[in-house]
Amino acid sequence: MTHAATVAELSGNGQLVYGCDYNPEQWDASVWQEDVRLMKDAGVNLVAVNIFGWAEIEPEQGVFRFENLDAIMDLLAENGIGVNLGTGTASPPAWLTTAHPEVLPTTADGTRRWPGGRQAFCPSSPVYRERALALVEQVSVRYGSHPGLRLWHVSNELGCHNSLCYCDVSADEFRGWLRARYGTLDALNAAWGTAFWSQRYSAWAQILPPRLTLSTTNPTQTLDFNRFSSDELLAHYCAEEAVLRRNSEIPVTTNFMVAAHIRNQDYWTWAPAMDVIANDHYVDHRLDAPLAELAFAADTTRGLAQGQPWILMEHSTGAVNWQPRNLAKGPGEMLRTSLTHLARGADGLCFFQWRASLQGSEKFHSAMVPHAGTDSQTWRDVVELGSVLEKLREIAGTTVHADVALVFSWETWWAHDQESHPSGDVQYIEQVHAAYKALWDAGLTVDVVAPGADLSGYKLVVVPNLYLIRDEHAAVIRDFVDNGGSAVITFFSGIVDENEKVRAGGYPGAFRELLGIRSEEFFPVDAEQPLTLDNGSLASLWSEALHLTTAEAMLSYATGHHVGTPAVTRNHFGAGEAWYAGTVLDNAVLKDLLLRAAAAAGVQLPDAPSGLESVTRRGNGHEYVFLINHTSEDRKHRVSGMELLTAEAVADVVVIPAGAVRVVRTTPRISDTDGPAQDRKDSRNDSH
Ligand code: GLA
Repeated sequence: MTHAATVAELSGNGQLVYGCDYNPEQWDASVWQEDVRLMKDAGVNLVAVNIFGWAEIEPEQGVFRFENLDAIMDLLAENGIGVNLGTGTASPPAWLTTAHPEVLPTTADGTRRWPGGRQAFCPSSPVYRERALALVEQVSVRYGSHPGLRLWHVSNELGCHNSLCYCDVSADEFRGWLRARYGTLDALNAAWGTAFWSQRYSAWAQILPPRLTLSTTNPTQTLDFNRFSSDELLAHYCAEEAVLRRNSEIPVTTNFMVAAHIRNQDYWTWAPAMDVIANDHYVDHRLDAPLAELAFAADTTRGLAQGQPWILMEHSTGAVNWQPRNLAKGPGEMLRTSLTHLARGADGLCFFQWRASLQGSEKFHSAMVPHAGTDSQTWRDVVELGSVLEKLREIAGTTVHADVALVFSWETWWAHDQESHPSGDVQYIEQVHAAYKALWDAGLTVDVVAPGADLSGYKLVVVPNLYLIRDEHAAVIRDFVDNGGSAVITFFSGIVDENEKVRAGGYPGAFRELLGIRSEEFFPVDAEQPLTLDNGSLASLWSEALHLTTAEAMLSYATGHHVGTPAVTRNHFGAGEAWYAGTVLDNAVLKDLLLRAAAAAGVQLPDAPSGLESVTRRGNGHEYVFLINHTSEDRKHRVSGMELLTAEAVADVVVIPAGAVRVVRTTPRISDTDGPAQDRKDSRNDSH
């Protein structure tokens, strides 16, 4: 990262960013003027164009037609609207895939996917890379100093469809990646445990991606292929970025997908390469708790941004088109979900997309200008959100502070969910979401951090199902507790090292001493027949033959093979304490446990009534208390200051009407000198 920008700079005048994807190529030029007029009406200040522009601007190899993009860039700039310019490489055009079908991606069964959708390229293809970079060269030379340009948008959602390619070119690149990682075949054989099932390699050329086999494949090979594939698309990002840097001074980013259904990019490794962290998020109605997942994604994005403001690059005004049932948003829901992102550290909100398409597979995806036009609730909501962002402009640069951290890892996700594990019912992201949901229900503000992150500013650390953990990262958690912190660790954590090798001597290997327990065996529980604990609550999916070494039992099994055996334990370790949940607890029990651990750790407990989401941003000598009422009844919250949406003074208690949002700027604290966007650690220390 060399050209770091604050998000508010991207709006052009220090405001919060309000923006969208704009695909003018889908519309007659006569619509463009109206589009820009409406964008100004709504307060839109940053527009992403040329995201899928390749076939438009390079209709044949080496033939470039920029007239339309020139006109759009100029039109936006003349109207004071900034451009977030796509490099245009997200989807190779038909001329490229026809002339070079070898750029197409190949699935694990060895079949090549056809063009006709989008993102139909192999991340390792040298032909794709060469043509893509040639396009980026043209685009960046032409627009690198355009007055409207505020941000470069590399490709689009890299890896959304094509992260894993199993073709021969990928196989070759994978071998190169493995050579760099292991140096020798002996080291690779040892790391992959190839003594098992006669899998030993005697030449590099024998090694393949984990293509479809009759039996299960080698888990470390699969894990390394995940790592390689994430690195490969990051390398593509960096290659495009290098071209942009040569030709332009403008900051560069791409849109991440922190989401429950996308897991192939390890964004902890990607984030340092971005000038600004940007995420796309859509409310996922396939999940049990979509709003908690939204909050988790926002907190994770803030973690990727190292606590600094980030930008929501895409969300939707209403329904998407890719879930089994595409639910529209109810009254006030768009404002509530938008403000959840803001509350959790976003300094900008953008939508996919500006004007709803009339053709193509996304024609029933919502947009800022719906098919119905501007005489619509959606448009009125869009205009209202623009004015809300204007009223909240002073929050730009302020930051969120948390006493609680949750450790989350894409690498663990890859390892945890492999085949041949004790229970296919236990999925990593579901357990992470369950832990986060319990914290969210408790009203606790949480930072999501990577394994190995500095924990010294936190009081409580929650570690759900961290199956794979490196020794040095386990040591960070151990030292945190030793120095007085509290940790809550859930089952199937600390089991394997970075090579997926089990730590022997009893589970959970990496955390045995810290937790003061030793588990002999896992006893997965039938999903239909949960066990019961001695407090009468359920213990689902998982149990263990757990022995206490130095810990005390907090809850034990009342049914099943191990009646009287501990299920939840607490261990005093050094100056702190470490809790273990050895089963899937009911949400209410997990919430109580977390609240108890938080209270013991000195975390100030919130008093938010249920259904009222409350998060505080700090800066400018103020606190900005976001209050989002997800219920159909009025809620109250104790706070004093100025309510920014109604411009009313609040003395002691603010009422948040059913389904509404309120943001209260508290009275300045004399001693608080926090400026906007300060270094995260400084400001966090200030708050403790
Ligand atoms: C992603 C893509 C967009 C669009 C939306 C639809 O976020 O980046 O191009 O397809 O999904 O939800």
